[in-house]
Amino acid sequence: MRTINRLAIENIYSTYYSGEQQLSVLENVSLHVEEGEFVSVLGPSGSGKSTILKIAAGLLKPDQGRILVNNREVTGQPRLVGYMPQYDLLFPWKTLRQNAALPLLAKKIKSKEASKRVDEMLPLFGLENFAEYYPHQLSGGMRQRAALLRTMLIDSDLMLLDEPFAALDALTRETMQDWLLKIWGQFRRSVLFVTHSIDEAIYLSDRIYVISERPGKIAIEQTIDLERPRSKEIITTSIFSRYKQVMINALNINARGEEDINQN
Ligand SMILES: Nc1ncnc2c1ncn2[C@@H]1O[C@H](COP(=O)(O)OP(=O)(O)O)[C@@H](O)[C@H]1O
Ligand SMILES: [Mg+2]
Repeated sequence: MRTINRLAIENIYSTYYSGEQQLSVLENVSLHVEEGEFVSVLGPSGSGKSTILKIAAGLLKPDQGRILVNNREVTGQPRLVGYMPQYDLLFPWKTLRQNAALPLLAKKIKSKEASKRVDEMLPLFGLENFAEYYPHQLSGGMRQRAALLRTMLIDSDLMLLDEPFAALDALTRETMQDWLLKIWGQFRRSVLFVTHSIDEAIYLSDRIYVISERPGKIAIEQTIDLERPRSKEIITTSIFSRYKQVMINALNINARGEEDINQN
């Protein structure tokens, strides 16, 4: 039986142009995410991680290479996909409920029904008491959960998450990781997750692609064989440390002496 690749990126090259300047950002990047799999892209800042997600979401066309979703080519085709960008997540002038309902309204679901569907999901995201709040009235963790809720409401088997926890303090971040694993266990969407945190990548993922400094190339692909459900104790195990060493080595070799990018 052929496995279903929810997403396959094949031999992608990408360059940004501004005036005379030309910046090669990705070189021959290939990766895939299977059905129900949690895959991370780990790499230093500026290595092209967000560019990979934009290409996967169909927002940016690669110079070369192909994108396949469910084994069908979609390169450069705009489509509905569960993409959570790194910045500009929520509209400040809309309430949490209105923000979360946007993907449903885009599907022509009536506003009343959309609100009802959002309200049903709010408890799962710990937001049931905040539906009427505006983004500036919410904590950082709540805003990220609201953005994730909105991403979940996009009717797509694939979620593309761009450093969703990078701006949070360490404790909130750890709580959010556990919460994301719980939600993921429940919905089993395929996830392509971008991070520059080694611990976060290992803790969350089934598989990790380490990407080198710009121009980004896949340095290594590592399967993470840690049983699920996971809890924070695994971070102190020797197998976790071994994975960590593998990541550090891959990043060192390819990131010119940068020792550990896991600093937030
Ligand atoms: N729209 C753009 N125009 C020109 N350069 C860009 C643009 N977006 C990103 N870059 C540059 O491309 C490189 C990779 O960016 P990005 O994909 O955002 O990396 P990462 O997400 O890994 O930090 C960076 O050097 C960045 O400055
Ligand atoms: Mg980025």
